[in-house]
Amino acid sequence: MPKSPVILSGTASHSLAHRVASNLGLSLGNIEVKKFSDQETYVNIKEPVKGKKVFVIQSGCSPANENFMELLLTLDALKRLSPDEIVAILPFYPYRRQERKVEDGESISAELVANLIKTTGADKAITVNLHSTTIERYFKIPLVHLTAWPVFINYFKKNITNIKDFVVVAPDEGSIHHSKIFSREFKIPLAILPKSRPAHDQVEIETIIGDVKGKNIIIADDEINTAGTMVTAISTIKQAGAKNIYLACIHPVLSGKAITRLKNAPIKKILITDTIYLPPEKKLRNMEIISVAPLISKSIESSL
Ligand code: R5P
Repeated sequence: MPKSPVILSGTASHSLAHRVASNLGLSLGNIEVKKFSDQETYVNIKEPVKGKKVFVIQSGCSPANENFMELLLTLDALKRLSPDEIVAILPFYPYRRQERKVEDGESISAELVANLIKTTGADKAITVNLHSTTIERYFKIPLVHLTAWPVFINYFKKNITNIKDFVVVAPDEGSIHHSKIFSREFKIPLAILPKSRPAHDQVEIETIIGDVKGKNIIIADDEINTAGTMVTAISTIKQAGAKNIYLACIHPVLSGKAITRLKNAPIKKILITDTIYLPPEKKLRNMEIISVAPLISKSIESSL
């Protein structure tokens, strides 16, 4: 009989990992993580893992260096305990935005992350909505790239009766592909906002391709970081006569001024997932968190 798998959680993903383990009828494995006085990280796997499949869930969210290093130490510790297989689960992939060189002298950090995951001991990896599919190519171990768009599709199916009055708005060219998923599923029009970035973390949108006047809106994006994209998109479509606005964003990075910006923007609902833990102080009244735990649990189940 195959040995029962072990689910380990890194410190960035406790609540998600609990949900995943409980969906699988398991408890989380025992792992000790602490800091030395000089702030280096110490990891000790207390769980028997020899001959077992081990799944380590750790989001690469902020503080990315801390969380990612903790994952690497965990993988390194695990491989010294002779498990049958080590699967690194990164619900949110760190250093995702530099997946190519824009200027000479830059690093391709997304590739380095994939290399380190393999080098330190992972036999496989599972991720949720990588910022760019280019990152898939950097994995030299099997990668399962899950998509969380269906969790939002299901939300709209269950909760919105007048979905035919909606338009889906792609807040930049990179969002056209997944915005089409909503447009096709609900048979609603697509509008596109050509976004430019004059500098890092600055956003400009000068025109709308499509019609949003008098329409309810879904804006789907893979992440909200500083929320510059979202508030610029919202102000552009509001000026063009859009009605109620629903955001559907997978990764709630929510850095810098994001929370203040979102709080002050005319948004009916902000749908996010739990790929990144949302601390209570960031939870706005119009936010709803939809868990990706069922998605991850199913992926684990199908690999057993
Ligand atoms: C861009 O390629 C992404 O899909 C997001 O639009 C972007 O990362 C959001 O960043 P911010 O919230 O800082 O505008």
